[in-house]
Amino acid sequence: MPPQPPGVEVATDHAPLLERFFDLEVREERYVIDDIEGHIPDFVRGSYYVNGPARFRRGEQRYGHWLDGDGMVAALHFDAGVGGRGLVMEWVQRFVRSHKWMAEEEAGEALFRTFGTSFAGDRLVRGIALASPINVSAYHFADQLLAFGEQGLPFALDPRSLETVGEHTFGRRLNAISPFSAHPNFDPLSGEMHNFGVSFSARSPLIHFYRFNAQGELLERRRRPLERPVSIHDFALAPRHLVVYASPHVLDMEALSAADATLMQALTWRPELGSQLLLEPRNGEGEMLRLEIGNGYCLHLIGCFEAQGRLMVDLVELTQPVYDQYEVPQLFADVRPAQPVRYVIDTEAERVVERRIIADSRMCDFPAIDPRFVGRDYGDFWVLALSASGQSGRKFFDQLVRFDWHHESVGSAWTAPKFCYLGGEPVMVPDPAKRRGGVVICQHFDAQEQRSSILLFDALDLAKGPLARLRLRHPIPPGFHASFHPGTGPS
Ligand SMILES: [Fe+2]
Repeated sequence: MPPQPPGVEVATDHAPLLERFFDLEVREERYVIDDIEGHIPDFVRGSYYVNGPARFRRGEQRYGHWLDGDGMVAALHFDAGVGGRGLVMEWVQRFVRSHKWMAEEEAGEALFRTFGTSFAGDRLVRGIALASPINVSAYHFADQLLAFGEQGLPFALDPRSLETVGEHTFGRRLNAISPFSAHPNFDPLSGEMHNFGVSFSARSPLIHFYRFNAQGELLERRRRPLERPVSIHDFALAPRHLVVYASPHVLDMEALSAADATLMQALTWRPELGSQLLLEPRNGEGEMLRLEIGNGYCLHLIGCFEAQGRLMVDLVELTQPVYDQYEVPQLFADVRPAQPVRYVIDTEAERVVERRIIADSRMCDFPAIDPRFVGRDYGDFWVLALSASGQSGRKFFDQLVRFDWHHESVGSAWTAPKFCYLGGEPVMVPDPAKRRGGVVICQHFDAQEQRSSILLFDALDLAKGPLARLRLRHPIPPGFHASFHPGTGPS
Protein backbone atom coordinates (compact mmCIF):
# COMPACT_ATOMS: atom_id res chain seq x y z
CA MET A 1 0.00 0.00 0.00
CA PRO A 2 1.51 3.45 -0.89
CA PRO A 3 2.40 5.77 2.04
CA GLN A 4 -0.51 8.00 3.08
CA PRO A 5 -0.14 11.77 3.55
CA PRO A 6 -0.10 12.88 7.20
CA GLY A 7 -3.56 13.18 8.69
CA VAL A 8 -5.21 10.73 6.28
CA GLU A 9 -6.77 7.84 8.07
CA VAL A 10 -6.06 4.45 6.55
CA ALA A 11 -9.26 2.40 6.53
CA THR A 12 -9.08 -1.04 8.01
CA ASP A 13 -9.43 -3.94 5.61
CA HIS A 14 -12.23 -6.07 7.00
CA ALA A 15 -12.12 -8.40 4.01
CA PRO A 16 -8.53 -9.58 3.58
CA LEU A 17 -7.84 -11.31 0.26
CA LEU A 18 -11.30 -10.34 -1.02
CA GLU A 19 -9.74 -9.36 -4.37
CA ARG A 20 -9.23 -13.07 -5.03
CA PHE A 21 -13.00 -13.58 -5.08
CA PHE A 22 -13.28 -11.21 -8.06
CA ASP A 23 -10.17 -12.25 -9.96
CA LEU A 24 -10.80 -15.90 -10.65
CA GLU A 25 -10.13 -17.60 -13.97
CA VAL A 26 -13.55 -19.15 -14.39
CA ARG A 27 -14.07 -22.02 -16.80
CA GLU A 28 -17.19 -23.80 -17.89
CA GLU A 29 -17.60 -27.07 -16.02
CA ARG A 30 -19.84 -30.08 -15.60
CA TYR A 31 -19.01 -32.82 -13.09
CA VAL A 32 -20.38 -34.90 -10.24
CA ILE A 33 -19.42 -33.51 -6.85
CA ASP A 34 -17.56 -36.13 -4.83
CA ASP A 35 -16.06 -34.04 -2.03
CA ILE A 36 -18.93 -33.94 0.44
CA GLU A 37 -18.96 -33.46 4.18
CA GLY A 38 -22.03 -33.83 6.38
CA HIS A 39 -25.59 -34.86 5.72
CA ILE A 40 -28.03 -33.75 3.02
CA PRO A 41 -31.68 -34.24 4.01
CA ASP A 42 -33.83 -36.42 1.73
CA PHE A 43 -36.20 -33.60 0.85
CA VAL A 44 -33.44 -31.67 -0.92
CA ARG A 45 -34.12 -32.94 -4.41
CA GLY A 46 -34.17 -30.68 -7.43
CA SER A 47 -31.97 -27.96 -8.87
CA TYR A 48 -30.32 -25.00 -7.18
CA TYR A 49 -29.51 -22.20 -9.63
CA VAL A 50 -27.41 -19.09 -9.14
CA ASN A 51 -26.51 -16.34 -11.59
CA GLY A 52 -23.76 -13.78 -11.17
CA PRO A 53 -21.01 -11.75 -12.81
CA ALA A 54 -18.18 -14.20 -13.29
CA ARG A 55 -15.50 -12.50 -15.34
CA PHE A 56 -14.06 -9.12 -14.47
CA ARG A 57 -11.66 -8.74 -17.36
CA ARG A 58 -11.88 -9.26 -21.08
CA GLY A 59 -8.61 -8.98 -23.01
CA GLU A 60 -6.81 -5.94 -21.65
CA GLN A 61 -9.97 -4.44 -20.19
CA ARG A 62 -10.61 -4.80 -16.47
CA TYR A 63 -14.02 -4.07 -15.02
CA GLY A 64 -14.31 -1.96 -11.91
CA HIS A 65 -17.84 -2.66 -10.72
CA TRP A 66 -19.56 -5.78 -9.40
CA LEU A 67 -22.42 -5.38 -11.90
CA ASP A 68 -20.05 -5.37 -14.88
CA GLY A 69 -19.03 -9.01 -15.27
CA ASP A 70 -20.53 -11.41 -17.79
CA GLY A 71 -23.26 -13.59 -16.33
CA MET A 72 -22.51 -17.17 -15.53
CA VAL A 73 -25.29 -19.47 -14.37
CA ALA A 74 -24.41 -22.39 -12.15
CA ALA A 75 -26.65 -25.31 -11.28
CA LEU A 76 -26.40 -27.88 -8.57
CA HIS A 77 -28.68 -30.79 -9.44
CA PHE A 78 -29.64 -32.92 -6.44
CA ASP A 79 -30.78 -36.11 -8.15
CA ALA A 80 -32.23 -39.27 -6.68
CA GLY A 81 -29.98 -42.16 -7.61
CA VAL A 82 -30.95 -45.43 -9.30
CA GLY A 83 -34.29 -46.67 -8.01
CA GLY A 84 -34.79 -43.47 -6.07
CA ARG A 85 -32.05 -44.38 -3.62
CA GLY A 86 -29.02 -42.36 -2.80
CA LEU A 87 -28.15 -38.97 -4.09
CA VAL A 88 -26.08 -37.76 -7.00
CA MET A 89 -25.05 -34.14 -7.12
CA GLU A 90 -24.06 -32.73 -10.45
CA TRP A 91 -22.49 -29.30 -10.78
CA VAL A 92 -22.77 -27.31 -14.02
CA GLN A 93 -21.55 -23.80 -14.76
CA ARG A 94 -21.79 -21.99 -18.09
CA PHE A 95 -21.64 -18.43 -19.30
CA VAL A 96 -24.85 -17.11 -20.79
CA ARG A 97 -24.43 -16.57 -24.54
CA SER A 98 -25.84 -13.07 -24.40
CA HIS A 99 -25.50 -10.79 -27.43
CA LYS A 100 -22.69 -9.04 -25.56
CA TRP A 101 -20.88 -12.27 -24.72
CA MET A 102 -21.11 -13.57 -28.30
CA ALA A 103 -19.83 -10.36 -29.89
CA GLU A 104 -16.98 -9.95 -27.43
CA GLU A 105 -16.01 -13.60 -27.60
CA GLU A 106 -15.76 -13.34 -31.37
CA ALA A 107 -13.81 -10.10 -31.20
CA GLY A 108 -11.56 -11.38 -28.42
CA GLU A 109 -11.86 -8.09 -26.60
CA ALA A 110 -14.25 -5.90 -24.65
CA LEU A 111 -16.60 -3.96 -26.94
CA PHE A 112 -19.40 -2.63 -24.77
CA ARG A 113 -19.62 -0.09 -22.00
CA THR A 114 -20.83 -1.66 -18.78
CA PHE A 115 -22.73 -0.42 -15.74
CA GLY A 116 -19.64 0.95 -14.00
CA THR A 117 -16.87 0.91 -16.60
CA SER A 118 -16.36 2.96 -19.77
CA PHE A 119 -13.36 2.85 -22.08
CA ALA A 120 -12.17 4.41 -25.33
CA GLY A 121 -14.31 3.31 -28.27
CA ASP A 122 -16.82 1.43 -26.14
CA ARG A 123 -20.27 0.78 -27.58
CA LEU A 124 -23.83 1.19 -26.47
CA VAL A 125 -26.75 -0.69 -28.01
CA ARG A 126 -28.58 1.58 -30.51
CA GLY A 127 -26.38 4.32 -29.04
CA ILE A 128 -28.54 4.57 -25.94
CA ALA A 129 -28.45 1.43 -23.81
CA LEU A 130 -26.12 -1.06 -22.21
CA ALA A 131 -25.70 -4.51 -23.70
CA SER A 132 -26.90 -6.69 -20.86
CA PRO A 133 -24.40 -9.14 -19.40
CA ILE A 134 -27.40 -11.25 -18.15
CA ASN A 135 -25.83 -11.60 -14.74
CA VAL A 136 -28.53 -11.08 -12.10
CA SER A 137 -30.87 -14.04 -11.61
CA ALA A 138 -32.15 -17.38 -12.99
CA TYR A 139 -35.61 -18.90 -12.53
CA HIS A 140 -37.21 -22.08 -13.81
CA PHE A 141 -40.37 -21.19 -15.71
CA ALA A 142 -42.47 -22.99 -18.33
CA ASP A 143 -39.98 -25.85 -18.77
CA GLN A 144 -37.02 -23.58 -19.32
CA LEU A 145 -34.50 -21.81 -17.19
CA LEU A 146 -34.66 -18.06 -17.76
CA ALA A 147 -31.50 -16.10 -17.00
CA PHE A 148 -32.14 -12.42 -16.39
CA GLY A 149 -30.10 -9.26 -16.58
CA GLU A 150 -31.10 -5.74 -15.62
CA GLN A 151 -33.59 -4.11 -18.03
CA GLY A 152 -33.87 -6.46 -20.96
CA LEU A 153 -35.31 -9.74 -22.11
CA PRO A 154 -34.10 -12.89 -20.37
CA PHE A 155 -32.18 -15.64 -22.09
CA ALA A 156 -33.58 -19.18 -22.11
CA LEU A 157 -31.22 -21.95 -21.03
CA ASP A 158 -31.56 -25.70 -20.96
CA PRO A 159 -32.37 -26.30 -17.27
CA ARG A 160 -30.07 -29.31 -17.12
CA SER A 161 -27.04 -28.48 -19.25
CA LEU A 162 -27.37 -24.67 -19.04
CA GLU A 163 -26.73 -24.41 -22.76
CA THR A 164 -28.14 -21.15 -24.04
CA VAL A 165 -31.24 -21.54 -26.20
CA GLY A 166 -31.45 -17.84 -27.02
CA GLU A 167 -33.03 -14.54 -26.15
CA HIS A 168 -36.53 -15.25 -24.89
CA THR A 169 -39.20 -13.13 -26.56
CA PHE A 170 -42.22 -14.95 -25.07
CA GLY A 171 -43.41 -16.03 -28.49
CA ARG A 172 -42.38 -12.71 -30.08
CA ARG A 173 -44.77 -10.79 -27.85
CA LEU A 174 -41.82 -8.82 -26.45
CA ASN A 175 -38.70 -7.54 -28.15
CA ALA A 176 -35.24 -6.13 -27.50
CA ILE A 177 -36.55 -2.75 -26.42
CA SER A 178 -39.19 -4.08 -24.01
CA PRO A 179 -38.16 -2.92 -20.53
CA PHE A 180 -37.97 -6.01 -18.35
CA SER A 181 -36.51 -6.37 -14.87
CA ALA A 182 -34.35 -9.17 -13.46
CA HIS A 183 -36.81 -9.74 -10.61
CA PRO A 184 -39.91 -11.57 -11.80
CA ASN A 185 -42.36 -12.84 -9.18
CA PHE A 186 -44.31 -16.08 -9.35
CA ASP A 187 -47.82 -16.63 -8.07
CA PRO A 188 -47.73 -19.99 -6.28
CA LEU A 189 -51.48 -20.55 -6.81
CA SER A 190 -51.76 -19.89 -10.53
CA GLY A 191 -48.16 -20.49 -11.59
CA GLU A 192 -48.28 -17.12 -13.34
CA MET A 193 -45.17 -14.99 -13.70
CA HIS A 194 -45.34 -11.24 -13.15
CA ASN A 195 -42.65 -8.75 -14.01
CA PHE A 196 -42.16 -5.04 -14.50
CA GLY A 197 -39.86 -2.73 -16.43
CA VAL A 198 -39.14 0.99 -16.56
CA SER A 199 -39.01 3.26 -19.61
CA PHE A 200 -36.58 5.98 -18.61
CA SER A 201 -37.79 8.67 -20.98
CA ALA A 202 -37.12 12.06 -19.37
CA ARG A 203 -40.47 13.44 -20.62
CA SER A 204 -42.80 10.53 -20.05
CA PRO A 205 -41.26 7.85 -17.87
CA LEU A 206 -43.40 4.74 -17.53
CA ILE A 207 -43.55 1.59 -15.51
CA HIS A 208 -44.73 -1.48 -17.40
CA PHE A 209 -46.33 -4.49 -15.73
CA TYR A 210 -46.46 -7.90 -17.40
CA ARG A 211 -48.33 -11.09 -16.58
CA PHE A 212 -47.66 -14.50 -18.14
CA ASN A 213 -49.56 -17.74 -17.65
CA ALA A 214 -47.82 -20.87 -16.38
CA GLN A 215 -47.15 -21.89 -19.99
CA GLY A 216 -45.17 -18.71 -20.54
CA GLU A 217 -47.72 -16.85 -22.69
CA LEU A 218 -48.11 -13.11 -22.23
CA LEU A 219 -51.60 -12.47 -20.85
CA GLU A 220 -51.44 -8.82 -20.04
CA ARG A 221 -49.28 -5.73 -20.29
CA ARG A 222 -50.05 -2.40 -18.62
CA ARG A 223 -48.28 0.92 -18.56
CA ARG A 224 -48.50 3.48 -15.78
CA PRO A 225 -46.83 6.89 -15.68
CA LEU A 226 -43.97 7.49 -13.27
CA GLU A 227 -43.32 10.94 -11.83
CA ARG A 228 -39.68 10.70 -12.86
CA PRO A 229 -37.30 8.20 -14.51
CA VAL A 230 -36.01 6.39 -11.45
CA SER A 231 -34.03 3.21 -11.15
CA ILE A 232 -36.19 0.39 -9.77
CA HIS A 233 -34.66 -3.03 -9.28
CA ASP A 234 -37.31 -5.20 -7.63
CA PHE A 235 -41.02 -5.45 -6.86
CA ALA A 236 -43.30 -7.71 -4.83
CA LEU A 237 -46.50 -9.60 -5.42
CA ALA A 238 -49.16 -8.96 -2.77
CA PRO A 239 -52.53 -10.75 -2.82
CA ARG A 240 -54.26 -7.85 -4.54
CA HIS A 241 -51.43 -5.53 -5.56
CA LEU A 242 -48.16 -5.28 -7.38
CA VAL A 243 -45.88 -3.35 -5.03
CA VAL A 244 -43.00 -1.14 -6.12
CA TYR A 245 -40.66 0.99 -4.01
CA ALA A 246 -39.74 4.02 -6.12
CA SER A 247 -36.66 5.68 -4.64
CA PRO A 248 -35.47 9.04 -6.01
CA HIS A 249 -32.48 7.47 -7.76
CA VAL A 250 -32.92 9.33 -11.02
CA LEU A 251 -31.51 8.02 -14.30
CA ASP A 252 -30.55 10.51 -16.99
CA MET A 253 -30.46 8.44 -20.18
CA GLU A 254 -29.27 11.43 -22.20
CA ALA A 255 -26.17 11.64 -20.00
CA LEU A 256 -25.44 8.02 -20.83
CA SER A 257 -25.76 8.45 -24.58
CA ALA A 258 -24.27 11.95 -24.90
CA ALA A 259 -20.90 11.29 -23.35
CA ASP A 260 -18.67 8.55 -22.06
CA ALA A 261 -20.60 8.36 -18.81
CA THR A 262 -21.29 5.00 -17.30
CA LEU A 263 -24.79 4.11 -16.19
CA MET A 264 -23.51 4.51 -12.64
CA GLN A 265 -22.54 8.12 -13.46
CA ALA A 266 -25.89 8.78 -15.12
CA LEU A 267 -27.70 7.98 -11.87
CA THR A 268 -28.25 10.77 -9.33
CA TRP A 269 -29.49 10.38 -5.78
CA ARG A 270 -32.13 13.07 -5.12
CA PRO A 271 -33.43 12.42 -1.57
CA GLU A 272 -35.19 15.80 -1.53
CA LEU A 273 -37.67 14.38 -4.08
CA GLY A 274 -38.88 11.71 -1.67
CA SER A 275 -39.70 8.03 -2.07
CA GLN A 276 -43.02 6.40 -2.85
CA LEU A 277 -44.62 3.02 -2.52
CA LEU A 278 -46.56 2.30 -5.69
CA LEU A 279 -49.50 -0.08 -5.35
CA GLU A 280 -50.89 -1.26 -8.66
CA PRO A 281 -54.18 -3.23 -8.35
CA ARG A 282 -53.62 -6.70 -9.76
CA ASN A 283 -57.12 -6.78 -11.21
CA GLY A 284 -56.45 -3.56 -13.13
CA GLU A 285 -59.39 -1.77 -11.54
CA GLY A 286 -58.63 1.72 -10.28
CA GLU A 287 -55.60 3.90 -10.21
CA MET A 288 -52.10 3.00 -9.05
CA LEU A 289 -51.76 4.27 -5.49
CA ARG A 290 -48.72 6.39 -4.68
CA LEU A 291 -47.90 6.60 -0.98
CA GLU A 292 -45.21 8.99 0.29
CA ILE A 293 -42.78 7.13 2.55
CA GLY A 294 -39.92 9.50 3.37
CA ASN A 295 -36.71 9.39 1.38
CA GLY A 296 -35.15 5.97 1.82
CA TYR A 297 -33.79 3.58 -0.75
CA CYS A 298 -34.74 -0.01 -1.43
CA LEU A 299 -32.98 -2.52 -3.64
CA HIS A 300 -34.92 -5.63 -2.58
CA LEU A 301 -38.33 -6.33 -1.11
CA ILE A 302 -38.78 -9.28 1.22
CA GLY A 303 -42.46 -10.17 0.97
CA CYS A 304 -46.03 -8.89 1.09
CA PHE A 305 -49.23 -10.23 2.59
CA GLU A 306 -52.56 -9.10 3.97
CA ALA A 307 -53.65 -9.51 7.58
CA GLN A 308 -56.38 -7.89 9.70
CA GLY A 309 -57.47 -5.77 6.77
CA ARG A 310 -54.00 -4.35 6.28
CA LEU A 311 -51.42 -4.82 3.55
CA MET A 312 -47.95 -5.57 4.91
CA VAL A 313 -45.05 -4.56 2.67
CA ASP A 314 -41.70 -5.81 3.93
CA LEU A 315 -38.40 -4.71 2.51
CA VAL A 316 -34.75 -3.98 3.20
CA GLU A 317 -34.48 -0.20 3.42
CA LEU A 318 -31.29 1.83 3.19
CA THR A 319 -30.66 5.53 3.60
CA GLN A 320 -29.09 5.84 0.14
CA PRO A 321 -28.30 3.73 -2.94
CA VAL A 322 -25.80 0.95 -2.59
CA TYR A 323 -24.35 0.71 -6.11
CA ASP A 324 -21.47 3.04 -5.27
CA GLN A 325 -20.41 0.42 -2.74
CA TYR A 326 -19.97 -2.22 -5.44
CA GLU A 327 -16.56 -1.06 -6.66
CA VAL A 328 -14.27 -4.02 -7.16
CA PRO A 329 -12.34 -4.90 -5.06
CA GLN A 330 -13.07 -2.17 -2.47
CA LEU A 331 -16.59 -3.32 -1.81
CA PHE A 332 -18.84 -1.88 0.88
CA ALA A 333 -16.05 0.42 2.16
CA ASP A 334 -18.41 2.93 3.75
CA VAL A 335 -21.80 1.30 3.30
CA ARG A 336 -24.62 2.37 5.64
CA PRO A 337 -26.73 -0.08 7.61
CA ALA A 338 -29.84 -1.60 6.06
CA GLN A 339 -33.02 -2.03 8.01
CA PRO A 340 -35.71 -4.67 7.65
CA VAL A 341 -38.86 -2.52 7.52
CA ARG A 342 -42.55 -3.43 7.48
CA TYR A 343 -44.93 -0.82 6.09
CA VAL A 344 -48.46 -1.48 7.35
CA ILE A 345 -50.91 -0.01 4.85
CA ASP A 346 -54.61 0.72 4.97
CA THR A 347 -55.38 0.42 1.28
CA GLU A 348 -58.95 1.71 1.71
CA ALA A 349 -57.79 4.90 3.41
CA GLU A 350 -54.77 4.97 1.06
CA ARG A 351 -52.22 5.59 3.78
CA VAL A 352 -49.36 4.00 5.70
CA VAL A 353 -50.59 3.44 9.24
CA GLU A 354 -47.42 2.04 10.76
CA ARG A 355 -43.74 1.51 10.01
CA ARG A 356 -42.23 -1.36 11.97
CA ILE A 357 -38.58 -2.30 12.00
CA ILE A 358 -36.38 -5.08 13.20
CA ALA A 359 -33.79 -3.20 15.21
CA ASP A 360 -30.45 -4.38 13.91
CA SER A 361 -27.52 -2.26 12.82
CA ARG A 362 -26.08 -4.65 10.26
CA MET A 363 -25.89 -4.05 6.55
CA CYS A 364 -27.77 -6.93 4.96
CA ASP A 365 -29.16 -7.81 1.55
CA PHE A 366 -30.46 -10.64 -0.65
CA PRO A 367 -33.52 -11.45 1.47
CA ALA A 368 -35.31 -14.76 0.89
CA ILE A 369 -38.34 -16.44 2.44
CA ASP A 370 -39.78 -19.94 2.62
CA PRO A 371 -41.45 -20.34 -0.81
CA ARG A 372 -44.52 -21.90 0.86
CA PHE A 373 -45.25 -18.53 2.42
CA VAL A 374 -45.26 -16.33 -0.67
CA GLY A 375 -48.18 -13.93 -0.19
CA ARG A 376 -48.74 -15.13 3.40
CA ASP A 377 -47.61 -14.17 6.92
CA TYR A 378 -44.16 -15.76 6.70
CA GLY A 379 -42.26 -14.81 9.87
CA ASP A 380 -38.77 -15.98 8.93
CA PHE A 381 -36.50 -14.55 6.30
CA TRP A 382 -32.84 -15.08 5.52
CA VAL A 383 -30.21 -12.57 4.39
CA LEU A 384 -26.50 -12.21 3.81
CA ALA A 385 -24.91 -9.65 6.13
CA LEU A 386 -21.62 -7.92 6.86
CA SER A 387 -20.10 -8.66 10.28
CA ALA A 388 -18.06 -5.44 10.06
CA SER A 389 -21.14 -3.28 9.41
CA GLY A 390 -20.72 0.26 10.66
CA GLN A 391 -16.93 0.20 10.40
CA SER A 392 -14.98 1.98 7.71
CA GLY A 393 -13.01 -0.12 5.26
CA ARG A 394 -13.82 -2.73 2.68
CA LYS A 395 -15.87 -5.67 3.76
CA PHE A 396 -17.98 -8.39 2.25
CA PHE A 397 -20.83 -10.71 3.14
CA ASP A 398 -19.61 -13.12 5.78
CA GLN A 399 -22.77 -13.76 7.79
CA LEU A 400 -25.93 -15.70 7.15
CA VAL A 401 -28.76 -14.35 9.30
CA ARG A 402 -32.33 -15.41 9.94
CA PHE A 403 -34.62 -12.61 10.98
CA ASP A 404 -37.95 -13.30 12.63
CA TRP A 405 -40.82 -10.86 12.12
CA HIS A 406 -42.98 -12.56 14.73
CA HIS A 407 -40.48 -11.62 17.43
CA GLU A 408 -39.08 -8.62 15.52
CA SER A 409 -35.58 -9.91 16.22
CA VAL A 410 -32.66 -11.91 14.92
CA GLY A 411 -33.60 -15.59 15.01
CA SER A 412 -30.16 -17.07 14.45
CA ALA A 413 -26.94 -16.32 12.63
CA TRP A 414 -23.70 -17.90 11.45
CA THR A 415 -20.46 -16.07 10.76
CA ALA A 416 -17.90 -17.47 8.33
CA PRO A 417 -14.31 -17.82 9.56
CA LYS A 418 -11.75 -15.12 8.76
CA PHE A 419 -10.77 -14.98 5.06
CA CYS A 420 -14.06 -16.65 4.14
CA TYR A 421 -16.98 -14.96 2.34
CA LEU A 422 -20.51 -15.81 1.33
CA GLY A 423 -22.18 -15.18 -1.99
CA GLY A 424 -25.50 -15.66 -3.67
CA GLU A 425 -28.95 -15.12 -2.26
CA PRO A 426 -29.60 -17.70 0.44
CA VAL A 427 -32.20 -20.09 -0.91
CA MET A 428 -34.67 -21.79 1.39
CA VAL A 429 -35.73 -25.34 0.57
CA PRO A 430 -38.68 -26.24 2.83
CA ASP A 431 -38.99 -29.52 4.68
CA PRO A 432 -42.40 -30.90 3.60
CA ALA A 433 -42.72 -32.83 6.86
CA LYS A 434 -42.73 -29.62 8.88
CA ARG A 435 -44.87 -26.52 8.79
CA ARG A 436 -41.81 -24.37 9.28
CA GLY A 437 -38.15 -24.91 8.52
CA GLY A 438 -35.99 -26.72 6.04
CA VAL A 439 -32.58 -26.09 4.57
CA VAL A 440 -30.89 -22.89 3.46
CA ILE A 441 -28.32 -23.13 0.66
CA CYS A 442 -25.60 -20.56 0.05
CA GLN A 443 -22.23 -20.18 -1.57
CA HIS A 444 -18.94 -20.03 0.40
CA PHE A 445 -15.43 -18.96 -0.65
CA ASP A 446 -12.26 -19.54 1.33
CA ALA A 447 -9.91 -16.85 0.04
CA GLN A 448 -6.80 -18.33 1.64
CA GLU A 449 -7.38 -21.77 0.17
CA GLN A 450 -9.03 -20.33 -2.95
CA ARG A 451 -11.78 -22.94 -2.70
CA SER A 452 -15.51 -22.63 -3.17
CA SER A 453 -18.17 -24.74 -1.50
CA ILE A 454 -21.91 -24.88 -1.42
CA LEU A 455 -23.15 -24.94 2.16
CA LEU A 456 -26.45 -26.31 3.48
CA PHE A 457 -27.76 -25.08 6.83
CA ASP A 458 -30.65 -25.99 9.07
CA ALA A 459 -32.85 -23.03 8.18
CA LEU A 460 -33.99 -22.45 11.76
CA ASP A 461 -30.66 -23.06 13.48
CA LEU A 462 -27.94 -21.40 11.47
CA ALA A 463 -25.66 -21.00 14.50
CA LYS A 464 -24.79 -24.66 14.67
CA GLY A 465 -22.98 -24.31 11.33
CA PRO A 466 -23.38 -26.08 8.01
CA LEU A 467 -25.23 -29.40 7.87
CA ALA A 468 -23.30 -30.19 4.73
CA ARG A 469 -20.43 -28.77 2.72
CA LEU A 470 -20.05 -29.63 -0.98
CA ARG A 471 -16.64 -28.65 -2.26
CA LEU A 472 -16.37 -27.52 -5.87
CA ARG A 473 -13.38 -28.49 -7.96
CA HIS A 474 -12.66 -24.91 -8.93
CA PRO A 475 -13.60 -21.64 -7.21
CA ILE A 476 -16.38 -19.38 -8.47
CA PRO A 477 -17.02 -15.67 -7.80
CA PRO A 478 -19.97 -14.47 -5.68
CA GLY A 479 -23.35 -14.85 -7.31
CA PHE A 480 -26.29 -12.50 -7.04
CA HIS A 481 -29.67 -14.22 -7.02
CA ALA A 482 -30.38 -17.89 -6.58
CA SER A 483 -33.46 -20.10 -6.84
CA PHE A 484 -34.45 -23.71 -6.26
CA HIS A 485 -36.62 -25.79 -8.56
CA PRO A 486 -37.93 -28.91 -6.83
CA GLY A 487 -37.85 -32.17 -8.67
CA THR A 488 -36.29 -35.58 -8.79
CA GLY A 489 -34.04 -35.06 -11.80
CA PRO A 490 -33.36 -37.85 -14.27
CA SER A 491 -33.99 -41.36 -13.02
FE1 LIG B 1 -31.52 -8.08 -7.10
